[in-house]
Amino acid sequence: MGRKAYEVLLFAHGWYRSLLEGARISHGLASIIIRNGKVVTSLENFEADVEIEDGVITRISRSGLSGHPADRVYNAEGKLLLPGCIDGHTHFEMPFMGTTTADDFLSGTASAAAGGVTTVVDFAIQQSGGSMMQAVEAWKRKAVGKALIDYSFHLIVRDLKATDTEEISNIVSAGVTSFKVFTTYRKEGLMLEDGGILDVMRRVGQLGGLVAVHAENNGIIESNVEKFLKENMRSARYHRLSRPQEAEREAVQRAIYFSGIAGCPTYIVHLSSSEGRNAVKEGQLRGLPVFAETCPHYLIFDDSVYDRPDAANFVMSPPIKGKEDRAALWEGLREGVVKTVASDHADFDTHQKSLGKDDFTKIPNGVAGTEVILPVLFTEGYRKGRLSLNQVVQASSTNAARAYNMFPRKGTIAVGSDGDIVVLDPAKKVRLTQENLHSKIDYSIYEDYVAEGYPVLTVSRGEIVSEDNQITAKPGRGVFVPRSGYMPHKSPLFD
Ligand code: URP
Ligand code: ZN
Ligand code: ZN
Repeated sequence: MGRKAYEVLLFAHGWYRSLLEGARISHGLASIIIRNGKVVTSLENFEADVEIEDGVITRISRSGLSGHPADRVYNAEGKLLLPGCIDGHTHFEMPFMGTTTADDFLSGTASAAAGGVTTVVDFAIQQSGGSMMQAVEAWKRKAVGKALIDYSFHLIVRDLKATDTEEISNIVSAGVTSFKVFTTYRKEGLMLEDGGILDVMRRVGQLGGLVAVHAENNGIIESNVEKFLKENMRSARYHRLSRPQEAEREAVQRAIYFSGIAGCPTYIVHLSSSEGRNAVKEGQLRGLPVFAETCPHYLIFDDSVYDRPDAANFVMSPPIKGKEDRAALWEGLREGVVKTVASDHADFDTHQKSLGKDDFTKIPNGVAGTEVILPVLFTEGYRKGRLSLNQVVQASSTNAARAYNMFPRKGTIAVGSDGDIVVLDPAKKVRLTQENLHSKIDYSIYEDYVAEGYPVLTVSRGEIVSEDNQITAKPGRGVFVPRSGYMPHKSPLFD
């Protein structure tokens, strides 16, 4: 075939694939072959070579791809190839509690990429008095020109007076199919009343979307906070004490009842307690479409951190609970009640955390974590025999892709899927110090923790975005991943 004809064929192929696959955009390397690695998906492990061309996985060969040319060949002997992680819970450049999270879409996605994350789902917040669409547009502006990896959004619904649930259908049409509601943070103007939550769930359920719930009982928290402040108990440990696990259990149960009434798939985000885990499990046993996410900090620490001098750095909501809660969350992951591990990356530097040095209610809530999801799951989950490698992949990638309806474009290593792969070296040990991590903040809550097994290469749509802990991607190369709604109750997670 002459060069011209070949170019025409390539053009037609590209045009056809872009028709089929929507908004794929390829940048950087045209082709890469990753050789001799062990591919791990949510179901299987096998030795293979993997080829990515124009951003998409084109060949997976168990007998090898030697002889096939590529712009880059990476030898992954002795290493694992996992689907790029999907961090379904980030808050980049989020205005919150009188300040703004330290990481924006540039530093946040750098941190994500270094940790093996190839897609983040960030929370766009409806402003009080604003429309939902304004929030989506505002969050797109934050991401465009900065994101190093692909991104999608959830929409936080906070003001049903400014708009109504009919607007939800426009948001779903715009490719944002998951919504978050808060049962607390009344004073911060984020909480929805029960009726509002039910209204949102009804509409989202009809449209085949998903509602994520921040589940903590506001009344319990406000009553405890008032009591502690009156008694002049103002240190960070009272943040923990004001939010007992009953607060989580009650709100999780309520969300599950609403899910049943509304027929809406419901996702309990940042689950932190044994009681919460039990409530989710009961809901699942009743056949309701409910599932849960937990975060690395709940899987590593226990609430003794609130006795440390740097306790403020561990203030997030819900707070870290006891050792038995941590064990219950691991058990929840093992048995599949807890489906995903996401970061809840909402970080604040030491100066921002010090805003609450005399009053725990003023400590901005949140921690960094997108970079540690995979190292923590591998070290604590796989190495310690709590999870299989396949379960590590389910929790870090495949289940999020399914829940958020990105599968099989994301969340697996398969021909036709995006070329999103993380190569993990099981022999590489890294101390998770501030210097070794990529977020903007000036400390790491994981300073004393050594991960045993670490990402050494992160590939996003065929382009190397991080190699040996160095970021190699250009700002703005990440693209928005639009999603469509699934039929209510038909998400593959419920099969
Ligand atoms: O403390 C937290 N989790 N901050 C971020 C906001 C949220 O509730 O997810
Ligand atoms: Zn939350
Ligand atoms: Zn969050």
